[in-house]
Amino acid sequence: MILIGFMGSGKTTIAKLLGAHMGREILDLDEEIVKSSGMAIPEIFAAEGETGFRLREYDVLKALPNQHILATGGGVVTYAASRRLLMEMDQPIIYLHADFPTLYNRIREDMNRPLVKDKESVKKLYEERLDLYRSTSTIEVDATSTPKTIVDQIMQSL
Ligand code: S3P
Repeated sequence: MILIGFMGSGKTTIAKLLGAHMGREILDLDEEIVKSSGMAIPEIFAAEGETGFRLREYDVLKALPNQHILATGGGVVTYAASRRLLMEMDQPIIYLHADFPTLYNRIREDMNRPLVKDKESVKKLYEERLDLYRSTSTIEVDATSTPKTIVDQIMQSL
């Protein structure tokens, strides 16, 4: 099972809950990138730009086992090769959807997310990505609900 969605949609939190609920291991793509590169995410962006980060993200994704619950990073769908990999994994792809103001409030002060700058640029990213999340996912859930409701909804949809 793969979780996708914008920054702040709760992918990591929901992956942990689903993992506990289903007795399955979880993997967090951002964490795996940090482990394999030995750099924090803002360091990768500073040294290699977003392009460098996307290439690392793709390489890590390609090497991951398929049977885990996978929490991705919010921009994974913007790189066509990574999007294709996700779809080829032949797993349910769950899109955690929330409105922009809710997401922005959750992420605005996070220093660990290099793409969170001024509100307008984050809004533009959100708008550019909406269709990508929808066309990549097999299931869409409302990420503004309580975590328990989200998990229930995902379980029912399987
Ligand atoms: C990104 C989202 C981040 C992380 C990186 C880029 C994005 O993950 O991969 O900062 O492009 O939206 P989260 O969605 O877990 O914050």
